[in-house]
Amino acid sequence: MDFQQIFNDSPEVWASAPGRVNLLGEHTDYNDGFVLPTAIPQQTTVYIGISPNPRHHFYSVELAAQVDVAPNNPVSSGFGRYIFGCIQVLEKLGHKVPPLNVLVTSTVPIGSGLSSSAALEIATLKALRSLLELDLDPVQLAQLGQQAEIEYAGVQCGIMDQMAASLADTKHLLFLDTRTLERQLLPLPAESEILVIDSGIPRTLADSGYNQRRAECEAAAQILKVPALRDVTDVKQVETLPSPLQQRARHVITENNRVLEASKGVSAQRFGELMNASHQSLRDDYEVSVAGLDHLVDLLQNTPAVWGARLTGAGFGGACVALVKQGEANTIGQTVLKQYNADHQTEYQGRMLVPDEL
Ligand code: GLA
Repeated sequence: MDFQQIFNDSPEVWASAPGRVNLLGEHTDYNDGFVLPTAIPQQTTVYIGISPNPRHHFYSVELAAQVDVAPNNPVSSGFGRYIFGCIQVLEKLGHKVPPLNVLVTSTVPIGSGLSSSAALEIATLKALRSLLELDLDPVQLAQLGQQAEIEYAGVQCGIMDQMAASLADTKHLLFLDTRTLERQLLPLPAESEILVIDSGIPRTLADSGYNQRRAECEAAAQILKVPALRDVTDVKQVETLPSPLQQRARHVITENNRVLEASKGVSAQRFGELMNASHQSLRDDYEVSVAGLDHLVDLLQNTPAVWGARLTGAGFGGACVALVKQGEANTIGQTVLKQYNADHQTEYQGRMLVPDEL
């Protein structure tokens, strides 16, 4: 289905944005910390035209779903709320948005922790920028996308995903200071490439667990009398905190230190060790892993030619990322998946996402 078939008209503008996979720096962005994501090859494309009537019409090709909505009537669930949120944040800035026909098509997997929502927000905002001829730079787009996600999708997210969808490419790591938004594109460690496997485990608790972790971090920062956990660099300082704030804060501090070390240009082997340590910390201190993810990570970590592996994204299910020897990702992915899928036959099935299956 294309725009012409759905709306009987041609689109005026279109724009794309990629999903992302985060290599290091998990649950650090809402603590003003450091992150190291990269774009994945899968993208979301948004086509926009003017609606012939007073309502917005949103259509998703992959979901085969249409949402028709009056401009003053918020969409409360599904893909439409992200588009609606983007329109609303622009209107709040004083830009007049006419009733729209919007068609979305995407290869970014939904619910795998690879930021399909940020890709949709940034693609929508880029298309709206062209349609309305707005003067917005990539950082402003990311900030508006984050605002749309917080206010209209109810996730108190940081800015990593939207910055990655707006500014990252598939050839570099985006080293980002989420406090100052200073950033640098860095090469992958020599002799390495990225493997991403979806565990097939749905991220059912992700939103509530996520908002709870964020609140715990804010409570820890308040007790330690710092603006954000980013301001604590010595892990000993958390020892006075009650449990589980102590463990949550320890994860954030050690994770920031891992990103900073990795950003200095370490070997693939060292980078992999930092990823393994990150998984352990997410599992034991931050408690956002689940048994199936631990199993997939174990299989990856115990495969020759894997430098390191960890869960990626918010956790509670979704994908794992591994840094592997250059040229080996496909073979390693297939071998690990054979074992993983045999072990979980009746529960869920994993699949390889990067290298791109398309
Ligand atoms: C989600 C959020 C991000 C970030 C990650 C965890 O993807 O949208 O802002 O907090 O979880 O690192």
